[in-house]
Amino acid sequence: LFQKGFIYESLTSTQDEAEKLALNESIPFIVLSEVQTDGRGRFRRNWSSLPDTGLWMSVVLKPDIALHKLTTFNLFIALALAETMHHYYEDVNIKWPNDIFINDKKLSGFLTEIKGSQDQINQIICGIGINLNTEVNQFPEALQQTATSLSVETGQYIDRYQFFKLLICNIEKYYNKFMHSEFKDVKSDYERYALMFDRTLKYTEGNNIVYGKATSMNEDGTLNVTGEDGKTYRFISADIEL
Ligand code: BTN
Repeated sequence: LFQKGFIYESLTSTQDEAEKLALNESIPFIVLSEVQTDGRGRFRRNWSSLPDTGLWMSVVLKPDIALHKLTTFNLFIALALAETMHHYYEDVNIKWPNDIFINDKKLSGFLTEIKGSQDQINQIICGIGINLNTEVNQFPEALQQTATSLSVETGQYIDRYQFFKLLICNIEKYYNKFMHSEFKDVKSDYERYALMFDRTLKYTEGNNIVYGKATSMNEDGTLNVTGEDGKTYRFISADIEL
């Protein structure tokens, strides 16, 4: 799938560079940077991207799909990430929809930015950040209780090149599945990784805040949550706090 990659010493964000490159380069391709000076997460959060600690990359794709399939795209990317990390650590979790956790701490997240119309997406830029060898004290103070890296959890140094090779294989595998099958075909795999079931968590979607327990996923990838108020909610996307 990926014949081309662009590797930089330092960028503001691989997302910005990917967007510029996409004007002239044929898609698909990958952009990697050793350091990001203005790495960003979802909800306009910062993403700490120090040198030599992790993988900061953007994957540029051009699937011929309608906008409503984007939710499913994210579910497949989460599976590709979880499966890669599972190679290094047994108990990996997905915090639906866009985060990877181990032992209730976040070690990876991704965000998906698009160009196109309702009917047809022209371009997906999926930015993936993975803390591989970050030490706890290298995280910003405010994150030290909630963030982790693969090496902190496994007690082993992680070879970035090996990890990257496996990740690319898994992204290709799950991107093909995304293009040729439905979420329902991988739903049980996803549910095995999911950390939302049977525990009360805080769900924020827009101005809506719900404390509740996830009970099941639907075949379209939305999440059913029973609120503490006894009502049932169906989330299309949400920010979940543990
Ligand atoms: C999140 O957890 O909120 C998403 C984090 C995404 C971080 C990655 S690092 C590579 C790419 N470039 C960015 O500026 N952000 C993404």
